Amino acid sequence: MKTIENISRMSTFAKMMKKEGKSIGLVPTMGYLHDGHLSLVKAAKKHTDVVVMSIFVNPIQFGPKEDFEEYPRDLKHDEEMAREAGVDVIFHPLLKDIYPEGYATYVTVEKLTSNLCGESRPGHFRGVATVVTKLFNIVKPEVAYFGQKDMQQAMMIKKMALDLNMDIEIKIMPIVREKDGLAMSSRNTYLSGSERRDAAVLYQSLLKAETLIKNGERDAGKVIKAIEDMIKAKESARIEYVKLVDARGLKDIKTITGEIAIAVAVFFSNTRLIDNITIMVK
Ligand code: PAF
Repeated sequence: MKTIENISRMSTFAKMMKKEGKSIGLVPTMGYLHDGHLSLVKAAKKHTDVVVMSIFVNPIQFGPKEDFEEYPRDLKHDEEMAREAGVDVIFHPLLKDIYPEGYATYVTVEKLTSNLCGESRPGHFRGVATVVTKLFNIVKPEVAYFGQKDMQQAMMIKKMALDLNMDIEIKIMPIVREKDGLAMSSRNTYLSGSERRDAAVLYQSLLKAETLIKNGERDAGKVIKAIEDMIKAKESARIEYVKLVDARGLKDIKTITGEIAIAVAVFFSNTRLIDNITIMVK
C-alpha cells in the first residue's frame, strides 16, 4: 500500500491503472477509520481492481461553530488499518492543494439537500458535493462507496453523479453498528462513558418506531412523538431533529405510506450524532 499526497501523482497513478485496464474503487473518508469504513473497502475490493481510500478532513463542509479543528485525526493508525483491509492507495492531499488561494468553484445539489441535515447545517452539502467532485476528478474511479449512515449525503452524491453525467457508479453500503446498535462514526470517540451509554437510544428509538409502524401506526406525528419521548428520557441527549420523510425526495410526511425513512440527529454535549432506517410500508 502506498500513501500519495500529491494531486498530480494521484491523477497519473489513476491514468496508469486505466491504461492497464484496471478499474478503480474509491472510498472517500475523513479518516479516523472504523469498521464502517472498512466495510466500504471490503465491498470495493470485491468489485474493483484497485482500491483508493481518500483521507481528507474537508473544512468547507463544517460550519463556523462545528468541529473541524477538533475532528479526530490519526494518519498512522489509519494507514495500518487500511493496509490490513487491503487498500492499495491512500490519497491524503494537503489542504492548500485542494483549496489553493483564490479557489472559487462549488457544487450545489438542490432539493434533496433542503431538509434534515441541510436545514441545520447550511453549506454542509455544498462542501461535501464540491470535495467529492474534486476527488472523483482526481482519482477517476469507476465505482465510489458511501455509507447509508449519511443517507442524505449518499443520496445527494448519487443524484449529483446522475445530473452531471459523471459516469461513476455510486454504491451505498449498509450501516455498521456497535453491539448495542449505535451506528459507527468517528465522532463516537468524543462521547463520555455515560453519553456513550445514552447514545444507544438512537437505534433503540428507531426500532421502536419500526415496531409501531409494523403494528399499524400510520400517523407520522405519533411515531415522531414516541421516538422523541424515548430520546428525551436520556439525560445527556438533546434532539436536533426527528423526522419521517419519503425515502426518495426526503420531504416530511404526515401519513406513513410507501418507502419511508426515519432520520434522527441528536446532540450529546457537543457531539452531534445521526442515524436512520428505511421502511417499506404497503
Ligand atoms: O462522509 C464523509 O466522511 C465525508 O462527508 C466525505 C464523503 C469523505 C466528504 O468529505
